[in-house]
Amino acid sequence: MASTLFRLKSIEDASGHSELKRSMGRGALLFFAVGSIIGSGIFVILGVAIPKAGPAVLLSFLLAAVAALFSALSYAEFASAIPASGSSYTYAYVTLGEIVAWVVGWMLMLEYGVSVAAVAVGWGEYLNDFLANFGITIPEQFANPPGDGGIFNVPALLVVVLCTLLLVRGASESAKLNMVMVLLKIGILVFFCVVAFTAFDPDNLTPFLPLGILGVTAAAGQVFFSYIGFDAASTAGEEAKNPKRDLPFAIIGSLVVVTILYLLVTLAALGAQPWQEDEGKGSEALLTTIADTASGATWPGALIALGAIISIFSVVLVTLYGQTRILFAMGRDGLLPKVFTRVSPRTQTPVANTIIVAAVIAIPASFVSLGQLAEATSIGTLGAFAVVNIGVIVLRRRRPDLPRGFTTPLFPLMPILGLVLIAVIVAGLDWITWVAFAAWMAIGLVIYFTYSRRHSLLNRAGSADATSRSAEG
Ligand code: ALA
Repeated sequence: MASTLFRLKSIEDASGHSELKRSMGRGALLFFAVGSIIGSGIFVILGVAIPKAGPAVLLSFLLAAVAALFSALSYAEFASAIPASGSSYTYAYVTLGEIVAWVVGWMLMLEYGVSVAAVAVGWGEYLNDFLANFGITIPEQFANPPGDGGIFNVPALLVVVLCTLLLVRGASESAKLNMVMVLLKIGILVFFCVVAFTAFDPDNLTPFLPLGILGVTAAAGQVFFSYIGFDAASTAGEEAKNPKRDLPFAIIGSLVVVTILYLLVTLAALGAQPWQEDEGKGSEALLTTIADTASGATWPGALIALGAIISIFSVVLVTLYGQTRILFAMGRDGLLPKVFTRVSPRTQTPVANTIIVAAVIAIPASFVSLGQLAEATSIGTLGAFAVVNIGVIVLRRRRPDLPRGFTTPLFPLMPILGLVLIAVIVAGLDWITWVAFAAWMAIGLVIYFTYSRRHSLLNRAGSADATSRSAEG
């Protein structure tokens, strides 16, 4: 039993025979990663995180960035050694075995699927905020989930439906469009900094630690969400021109660029008004509120809201796309029903897969609050990161010979520190997130034992032999 649970896919199998075109260079990969990181997080999480930590939310951003960085090093090493699609799901399949891969794939549904719902809710906040400039307001009960003063979140549902329609028609991301979106996002955030810094008052930063260290770690659990996405470059392993060199560059470089930007935005926001004012109604579209207050006009806020609407839309699209492709990979390995791999001959896209994903995501997008969705995304992502940190240690022992374009410095200290920081951040999450996570994983295991284990392609004798050889190698 244990031998089938932990059966491995061979590295050569995982990274061989790709039909995808290797078209992405260093710059395109960096833009791709930055584009996947900056979503609604920085635009909406500040309003939720600042009230938890006060000005020390700056430390929360730093803590979350360092935690992400340790794991990014492990991702970089894997991506340079196994330039396959599928990211951590594939890494787990070749190092730790099928059941771990399944667990990671199941957690990735939180990192991608639930994240789509979270980002969609953030999009809705900015849509409302923008429409308010024209005197249009969506009634409270149709713009918020239950528990947040509403019944049903119509804008969040709307963006999920729009993106699904585009994906079904075959609008995957194009490198050029992505580049424009990334520049737009960075431009808006820099514009916000410029406006907010004009009202900077250092007194707003004192006392710096009003809610203690526990406040800092609790807020870190929430802001961690805004760093998720650097690993997206590792899903493009089969499309990179020079994966061994360029994937590590894009993974680590994107994280560094985004960390600097986030710290500046946070500092600007904190300096512009006393942090106690950042809580309450409308706090989620905080950047527009601060820009309006700092400038004494309404156009800077409207501009930021418009930019946020356009750029967050692109993240919903790309993340939804990512989720369908992960399910596609799991279906191809036999762990999920074949319906997830069915490609429509007319549109050449996995239509059934996309519609199933969208229908499932529409439920949390319509009925769950942003804070809870962001935490669920974070706990799933942190779980996947933990496995990658363990996997990198296992791969060094099992395949020391494997050519690696990048090796994690100070091995094994870095992946171990990565695990420790993951534990610190996970500990700061709400208990309800833990309960939801445990329930989600339990459902996943039931599916694995009743369906996936029996349908796995590795059940075929030939490949099972090949894989056990690679495990010994
Ligand atoms: N990092 C992504 C965001 O901020 C998930 O929306």
